[in-house]
Amino acid sequence: MAKTWNVALVTGASSGIGWELAKELARPGTKVGLVARRGDLLDRIAAEIRTAGGIAETAIADVTERVATVSALRNLQERLGPVDLLIANAGFGSPTFVEPTMNVETLETMYKVNVFGVLYSIEAVLPGMLERGRGHLVAVSSLGSYKGLPGESGYTSSKAAVNNLMEGFRIQLRPRGIHVTTVCPGFVVTPMTARNNFKMPFLLKADEAARRIVRALRYKPAVFDFPRPMRWLMELTRWLPDGVIRRAMADYNENPPG
Ligand SMILES: NC(=O)c1ccc[n+]([C@@H]2O[C@H](COP(=O)([O-])OP(=O)(O)OC[C@H]3O[C@@H](n4cnc5c(N)ncnc54)[C@H](OP(=O)(O)O)[C@@H]3O)[C@@H](O)[C@H]2O)c1
Repeated sequence: MAKTWNVALVTGASSGIGWELAKELARPGTKVGLVARRGDLLDRIAAEIRTAGGIAETAIADVTERVATVSALRNLQERLGPVDLLIANAGFGSPTFVEPTMNVETLETMYKVNVFGVLYSIEAVLPGMLERGRGHLVAVSSLGSYKGLPGESGYTSSKAAVNNLMEGFRIQLRPRGIHVTTVCPGFVVTPMTARNNFKMPFLLKADEAARRIVRALRYKPAVFDFPRPMRWLMELTRWLPDGVIRRAMADYNENPPG
């Protein structure tokens, strides 16, 4: 497969989907810049990519910190060249508790990573893309964004915010030559889902998810929802009475993932 992008930056590249996205992008020759907090893991994936003949650079940043995030991504841009593709993938999920106390601090952090992390990453690369009149901005959201779910409303609403943010950017930036895509995966096997103690329908392996994402991004879709059956299931939840959803998620709420 010929390379589509010369330089791509991936946040949350130290694990799961981001790790596999980095490898998938690097395989045909895209130079990849990898961002996350765990530098040892970033070094491992960069070494793996270099051993396979690819080019990878790393930068450590906590995406909840604006200055650190912008400077890490700009530093990667200086080392690798103008960025064609940004995949703001860093994210985390946690249940939303209402008792004995609400876990508001965790939800605040989740919003900072899932929403502001995307915003700061875009802030880092957008000026260059605007100047060149081209580029592709991608955020990894979730199929969970399509429905507020009991015990998950912090996560699902943070991802709904991402969808809305990216939609606005998409409409605004298209005339400036910049494409914007929101990627909404269903369940994928990663450390994030390893804690789930329920059967995850239509579960995909992370390398398969990354392959599907990279393949789809070549066509610059506005939104990429996958796998399709899980998308349809989420659509169905929009029409189900609240009581049905509450009962379906009762076990989950009684035994939330640790
Ligand atoms: N797995 C699924 O089923 C699934 C489904 C739908 C959507 N998603 C979304 O896919 C994305 C990747 O998730 P995953 O499943 O691959 O999870 P994962 O294996 O836990 O990876 C999460 C990545 O995000 C990074 N990250 C988390 N907090 C960060 C922070 N404050 N600053 C910088 N990086 C941070 C982590 O790196 P460090 O810890 O090293 O910083 C890690 O590289 C997330 O946005 C997630 O919401 C996942």
